[in-house]
Amino acid sequence: ARGGIGVRDLAGKHVVVSAGGTREFLDPVRFLGNRSSGLQGYALARTAASRGAEVTLVAANVSLPDPAGVKVVRVVTTAEMQEAVVAASRTADVVVMAAAPADFRPTSLAESKIKKSEDGSAPVVELTQNPDILKGLVTDRPNPGLVVVGFAAETGDANGTVMDHARAKLARKGCDLLVVNDVGGGKVFGSEDNEAVVLGADGTATPVPHGTKSALAQVIWDRVTDLLRSR
Ligand code: CTP
Ligand code: CA
Repeated sequence: ARGGIGVRDLAGKHVVVSAGGTREFLDPVRFLGNRSSGLQGYALARTAASRGAEVTLVAANVSLPDPAGVKVVRVVTTAEMQEAVVAASRTADVVVMAAAPADFRPTSLAESKIKKSEDGSAPVVELTQNPDILKGLVTDRPNPGLVVVGFAAETGDANGTVMDHARAKLARKGCDLLVVNDVGGGKVFGSEDNEAVVLGADGTATPVPHGTKSALAQVIWDRVTDLLRSR
């Protein structure tokens, strides 16, 4: 990675990074959540700041200290994350969606705690699909030159390999870069390390060998600075 000590190649740029996993409440005490730790998003925010960027970090439900020199906006739900990310992106050059927004939310939110019944039965929870923040950023770019970066945690299955699914997702989302993690077998979540491929809408693929989340973050910013230079 080019992002060595003293490299300020993101100076004058405003970057927005989302991190963590959103929560969708069923009642005042219960929620649907996911296993995202926020570590990759925080590594992206830290490395961008060290390369000179103005950084807005939209953080959902993480237990991590605020990185120095970064503006942190805390959110809980996918809807709140969308509002914060879109607002910050209006003045941004880059947005990186490293968060795991919940795809679904309970259709209704109970005002008081749902009680269990004596007969051993359980409620059926109906879910509604949440907005796709990344897709929304691509379809209504909050500003024209915005570079949009997505993440994809994929597993291979009967329908295709990890890379098959990743290429299809990049095309579907329409973002500029897609960072692909193979999460088969529970890898990556909460781990200090990561291994990925950075796919470009231009057909490029940058493999990033197993290493720290900071090392992956540096490669992502390398690719982003390439795109910013070519605009
Ligand atoms: N994402 C988003 N808004 C959502 C869900 C996902 O912005 N409601 C973003 C994630 O932050 C990530 C990218 O979209 O950058 C891909 O997320 P992923 O969960 O892999 O994609 P989905 O389209 O939700 O597809 P899947 O059915 O595989 O979960
Ligand atoms: Ca999803």
